[in-house]
Amino acid sequence: MKYKADYKNWVPNGMIYGFGGAAAGLAAVAGVVKNKALSAILSAGALGCGAFTAWCIYANDQFSYDGKRKLSRQIVEGTAEYVTLPEGGVGLDVGCGSGALTIACAKRNPQARMVGIDRWGAEYASFSKVLCEQNAQAEGVNNVSFQKGDACKLDFPDETFDAVTSNYVYHNITGKNKQELLRETLRVLKKGGTFAIHDLMEPVRYGDMEKFMEELKDEGYQDVQLIKTTNGMFMKPGEAKLMMLAGSTLLLGRK
Ligand SMILES: C[S@@+](CC[C@H](N)C(=O)[O-])C[C@H]1O[C@@H](n2cnc3c(N)ncnc32)[C@H](O)[C@@H]1O
Repeated sequence: MKYKADYKNWVPNGMIYGFGGAAAGLAAVAGVVKNKALSAILSAGALGCGAFTAWCIYANDQFSYDGKRKLSRQIVEGTAEYVTLPEGGVGLDVGCGSGALTIACAKRNPQARMVGIDRWGAEYASFSKVLCEQNAQAEGVNNVSFQKGDACKLDFPDETFDAVTSNYVYHNITGKNKQELLRETLRVLKKGGTFAIHDLMEPVRYGDMEKFMEELKDEGYQDVQLIKTTNGMFMKPGEAKLMMLAGSTLLLGRK
């Protein structure tokens, strides 16, 4: 039987079962404990977990590649539109997950190839290198390769790639300065290469991105732009808030 690409989900089924199970467990314990205050606390916990489970089910359906909305596909393919590689060129996708963006870029650039890297840790347990490779095969795409790597310290020399891209990765990396993470990605970009980086870039996570953009321009980077993708480009403002994607922004430019 032919394998169909499966890009999994940014809100995985495990999260639904985990919080659903917690809600049921807390409710069950709340029903049997004698202490009224403790029962009330457990009931409140069950309610919170139940509400979050309901959100997870909704979000899973909205993000799904098989659902009606296909929000993940719109974001991934919308970002890939900004990745154009020269003949024989190589592009990098940082934090490739299930390979969706890497493969979308490779499809758009059959004259070049893409490399996807990810740390494939426990927090996105359904994503793996094998899954990326199976997805590439299912899509009939062979101008891609995948390897384990860390966005904080990329295993590539300076100026290796003709384009760099990434989608919803750096906000996951806690305790790190996001502008420094962007610098690490830009380090491996060739002079003249382009970047298209999409993430939750609110000031609380990324600091002053207008200033960062000006710094890049002063250093000679060209066509640097920050584009909010929550103004209808990928999603509407209300949908962004509901899906916890407020602050979604594309950083574009040329080194
Ligand atoms: C929300 S998923 C997005 C996956 C993919 N970019 C997409 O658009 O479907 C975030 C990804 O970032 C990866 N990630 C998080 N921290 C990372 C790090 N320090 N280095 C490499 N990948 C990382 C996770 O493993 C996960 O696959």
